[in-house]
Amino acid sequence: MSAFIEKLKAAREDGAKNICAASDPQSLEAARAALFGRNGVFTALGKELGALPAEEKPAAGKSLNDAKRELSALLDETAAKIAGQGASTGEGIDLTLPGRRRRTGHKHPVSIVIDDCVAIFRRMGFIVAEGPEIETVFNNFDALNTPQDHPSRDPADTFYFEDGRLLRTQTSPVQIRVMEKQSPPVRIVAPGRCFRRDTPDATHSANFHQIEGLYVDKGVSMSDLKSVLLYFAKELMGPDVEIRLRPHFFPFTEPSVEYDFSCVMCAGKGCRVCKQSGWLEISGAGMVNPAVLRNVGYDPDEWSGFAFGMGIERIAMIRYRISDIRLLYENETRFLEQF
Ligand code: DAH
Repeated sequence: MSAFIEKLKAAREDGAKNICAASDPQSLEAARAALFGRNGVFTALGKELGALPAEEKPAAGKSLNDAKRELSALLDETAAKIAGQGASTGEGIDLTLPGRRRRTGHKHPVSIVIDDCVAIFRRMGFIVAEGPEIETVFNNFDALNTPQDHPSRDPADTFYFEDGRLLRTQTSPVQIRVMEKQSPPVRIVAPGRCFRRDTPDATHSANFHQIEGLYVDKGVSMSDLKSVLLYFAKELMGPDVEIRLRPHFFPFTEPSVEYDFSCVMCAGKGCRVCKQSGWLEISGAGMVNPAVLRNVGYDPDEWSGFAFGMGIERIAMIRYRISDIRLLYENETRFLEQF
């Protein structure tokens, strides 16, 4: 073996030993300098290489390069090991660096309103029920006593699937699902997403949310409905709000009403928001139609009930003074951060 190769072998072994013995960045740096520094062994050997006879050069050069590669990998590995130990002991961390603030998310205004409404009804003994967004025609229309020629069934208003099912147009089918499964008494609220073929504008969106309510028991009357709606209004909007029931028509209730809050902007005096009427329309409601009770196998001579269904976005817009429903669906963070 040539003298060069022997020197290289010794340098490699010594170097590896020194690197492995290093336990802090300073001793590792010393080991590195002893090999690769200006006066390092490898640097000196590089110079010696030039003076070797031509036939020895290729093999000697390859051995030198191999040794350099091997030891610089070992240096990297050891440096990483030392840095890792530092981290776990708290060394190597700059405690004077400013912290990184994590931005926490928060609830969407639609979710806030749903949660608040549900909380109020739960205090009155209602429990939460849920139904699927893809519904049968039977649950969404037939069982709710909707006539065959009712305009809401029109494919221009409702999204149908090829198999005949549909995207529910209201949360009312949850009434049917619950009553089919359970015998009375029933006291549920069902918040959820609904879909209609509406052209989006400031007050319409093709998908929106409702919260449905249903109470069936012995001797339930219109005055129970009114007191529940009044309590709900005052809990949600404050003690000064008044309510009003107006006669209306829904196939699934008889009699049917529309339910208004006194205008929260002008306290009933009349303004632009309530179109000078002093009232804001909130929901449909009524006494469950005996035909609906019969459809789910309840005896209408024994049981009676009330139901209501309100638009969540409508409530959110009134509560937060939002002028365009589309703002609720654009996910613009500067808008959402306000709630
Ligand atoms: N489902 C009705 C709608 O979307 C709202 C409604 C009215 C629900 C009266 C009811 C009710 O439960 O009794 O327009």
